Amino acid sequence: MDPKVAEVLEQAEKIISSSQNADQIYIEIFGKNGIFTALAGEMKNISPENRAAFGQSLNAAKQQIEKALTKKRSSLVVSRSSTQSIDVTAPGKAQKIGHLHLVSQAIEEIVDIFKRLGFTLQSYPEVDWDWYAFESLNMPKDHPARDDWETFFVKSERSAKYGQQVLTPHTSNGQVREMERTKPPIRMLNISRCYRRQIDVSHTPMFHQFEGLYIDKKVSIPQLKGTFDFFTENFFGKGRVTRLRPHHFRFTEPSFEVDITCGVCMGKGCRMCKSGWLELGGSGMVHPNVLRSGNLDPKIYSGFAFGWGIERTIAMKTEIPDIRLLYQNDLRFLEQF
Ligand code: FA5
Repeated sequence: MDPKVAEVLEQAEKIISSSQNADQIYIEIFGKNGIFTALAGEMKNISPENRAAFGQSLNAAKQQIEKALTKKRSSLVVSRSSTQSIDVTAPGKAQKIGHLHLVSQAIEEIVDIFKRLGFTLQSYPEVDWDWYAFESLNMPKDHPARDDWETFFVKSERSAKYGQQVLTPHTSNGQVREMERTKPPIRMLNISRCYRRQIDVSHTPMFHQFEGLYIDKKVSIPQLKGTFDFFTENFFGKGRVTRLRPHHFRFTEPSFEVDITCGVCMGKGCRMCKSGWLELGGSGMVHPNVLRSGNLDPKIYSGFAFGWGIERTIAMKTEIPDIRLLYQNDLRFLEQF
């Protein structure tokens, strides 16, 4: 055996016999700065004619050390188990069970409620073309949402060739995509992350929306109202209803803001809501130009759409005062739910 290898082998045997900690022994011999690791590093300095013999010595020594270490490990286990006893009747340590994040919990509930009305969950890109996010939705080029201050634009080689890409600022990008994917009757639920340059108690730069789209022949506003009331009662609880307020969106006509009765005062008016109502989000009857973008004839088909924020919906249900709390990963907050 090569004398250097023999020397390291002897040192290793001494370490094994003198220590009572197998992991420590392993580190001292085979760890990053271990004696065997240093010896193996010498290989590059050995002349080519002696390299094979050195390698063989090294392998033989390694096997010997590993064998001695295995023996040592089992002797340590035996000596420990013969000195310690286990009380098998002692109560076990209870494992802490976690739960889904509030946003994930809400997504599960929302999907379940709309599934009962025949809506199916679809997924559309979070980074999408300007066409799907704005242009196909009847939004003019100078619309404020298409401003750099509101939307995150993505610059890439593909965008230079095919037009702008954006981090979707709303889930309405799924509307025309769904019309391209399938033909009416359409009952789509699209849940996705959305991005806007906003931050305060009721705004985060990344948030989630859930978008519903229903298209068929002769779809009416009472169907839209009935769908919203069904969701509200099932998600927020009995006695909570919705009301529609006239609003303006480029992609729906007529358009509405949807409010729900405040859960604290049940519509009477209190410090939290002032008017007795809390705003849920936007909705309306799908604009004929949007149906045309999706190659549907507005003389035959009509539909309704809505897009609501998940974080705000959670805030309304749980009465948390600031939606940013949802993303601070403070367990003291999250464990309350
Ligand atoms: C829209 O995004 C429309 N696309 C909704 C729509 C869909 C209207 C279909 C008609 C038909 P708006 O910008 O108001 O609308 O956003 C809708 C909801 O998203 C808001 O009510 C709010 O709940 C949520 N939201 C918007 N911005 C943020 C944000 N920065 N942080 C958290 N939630 C947000």
